[in-house]
Amino acid sequence: MNGPTSGDYLYLREVVFSHTQNVLEPSHDHLFQSRLVGLLHRHSLSRLDELVHLLRAAKSPELERAVAEAMTINETSFFRDCRSFELLRTEVLPKIIEDCRSTRRLRFWSAASSTGQEAYSLAILICENFPQLSDWNIRIEGTDVCAEVVQRARQGRFHRIEMNRGLPARLLVRYFDHTGESWVIKPEVASLCHFRQANLCGQLPFQECFDVIFLRNVILYLSLETRQTLLSAMHRLIRKKGYLFLGSAEQPPDRSLWTTVLSGGTCHYRPI
Ligand SMILES: C[S@@+](CC[C@H](N)C(=O)[O-])C[C@H]1O[C@@H](n2cnc3c(N)ncnc32)[C@H](O)[C@@H]1O
Repeated sequence: MNGPTSGDYLYLREVVFSHTQNVLEPSHDHLFQSRLVGLLHRHSLSRLDELVHLLRAAKSPELERAVAEAMTINETSFFRDCRSFELLRTEVLPKIIEDCRSTRRLRFWSAASSTGQEAYSLAILICENFPQLSDWNIRIEGTDVCAEVVQRARQGRFHRIEMNRGLPARLLVRYFDHTGESWVIKPEVASLCHFRQANLCGQLPFQECFDVIFLRNVILYLSLETRQTLLSAMHRLIRKKGYLFLGSAEQPPDRSLWTTVLSGGTCHYRPI
């Protein structure tokens, strides 16, 4: 029985890179089999090398995109790295609210929002701690390259197991409705959040500037060059007094564009 060759894996890595700019290491080749099992099934294929054959023959951007999206790592949770949210609550939001008192308008972006927990955590934090903002014009944008997670984020429906990760019980009962094994975000929180599919390495879908951008746990999947291009684009899309948050394990951005601020046991970045 044939199996995928090293050339097949190289081809799959190139397909992923060309659609999402995610760099997959050869040491992770085994993940193709487990992540693409659903796609193989949908195309009535049983082996990875058959899929590679189809990809090479069909040259179908839809099929290639499906492969690339299936290979994205969508790991997330509510209030992930809670120090960033605590800093938002205690320092960042009070300052931004003061700065925006005249416009009463706040813009947040959860870039690489996955299934939506990051954006919803921010919305819950605002509803819970800043009732004075209830009549402000607030939008939390969530974007992700993977259509399936964007669809899930829009539904705002989470399984019991997802709810057990990072969400205090008090907030769970206050901001979600319970239906069977799932919890659905309440409309007052959902209405702040807007999700759409977008590739951070393509044409960015916004022209307006943001007060806070979360770009967390995604640049680690990108090449150094792609990161630099993306962080320059982010620099153009953040307000002068705005705040950028990266994942706790991610490298600080270019020092000529961003100042690193250490506070509350975590760092965030301000545009220069
Ligand atoms: C590990 S999750 C991080 C989710 C959330 N930001 C967090 O920190 O919990 C990474 C997300 O980045 C998305 N992603 C990867 N490459 C992307 C790209 N080029 N454009 C937009 N999203 C991308 C993946 O689909 C995935 O949902």
